[in-house]
Amino acid sequence: MNDVRRAKRDDIPRILELLVQVDMTHHRGRPDLFKGPATKYNAAQLEEILDDDATPVFVCEVEGKVAGHAFCVHKQIVGDSVLTDVKTLYIDDICVDEAYRGRGIGKALYRHVIDYAKSLNFYNVTLNVWSCNPGAIKFYEAMGLKPQKIGMEQIL
Ligand SMILES: CC(C)(COP(=O)(O)OP(=O)(O)OC[C@H]1O[C@@H](n2cnc3c(N)ncnc32)[C@H](O)[C@@H]1OP(=O)(O)O)[C@@H](O)C(=O)NCCC(=O)NCCS
Repeated sequence: MNDVRRAKRDDIPRILELLVQVDMTHHRGRPDLFKGPATKYNAAQLEEILDDDATPVFVCEVEGKVAGHAFCVHKQIVGDSVLTDVKTLYIDDICVDEAYRGRGIGKALYRHVIDYAKSLNFYNVTLNVWSCNPGAIKFYEAMGLKPQKIGMEQIL
């Protein structure tokens, strides 16, 4: 059974391992942009993130071991001249350990995030995905996500 729950400080070493896997996925796809191996947050930053209800992190345990995580951020821009005040739940990071992929754990994490967002009356769930990560794009498409905006570049 896939058990999704809020992450605790004890999970930090395991979350750091998963963050390396995300970074290496990006590093393999765009070594010009992503250092590898690296983690976007260190242990001290993770403690702050885990303690903050505005940045909930969920983990999925399989047989007592954390197999994946989903980082979320509550976002709302209030009083902008053009943007409405909608409340958005932004998925900052999602990863399933490579040994556990293809078993529905990413889906269980995503569903949990959607249920959480609905329970708090968020308008939408958003995230960014790199074009060099086609597997993640396929996963998000399978979850029903649609492109909202497109980041473009021309390398010089
Ligand atoms: C993307 C990721 C989270 C998917 O997790 P997962 O546990 O393997 O996904 P699931 O087994 O729950 O798959 C759910 C659905 O997505 C589809 N899917 C998942 N990965 C896919 C892939 N690489 N190619 C095609 N489809 C894929 C599955 O077929 C499944 O479809 P279904 O519901 O119709 O059966 C995982 O591959 C991962 O951690 N990748 C590395 C880190 C990463 O890229 N994170 C995202 C950064 S933006």
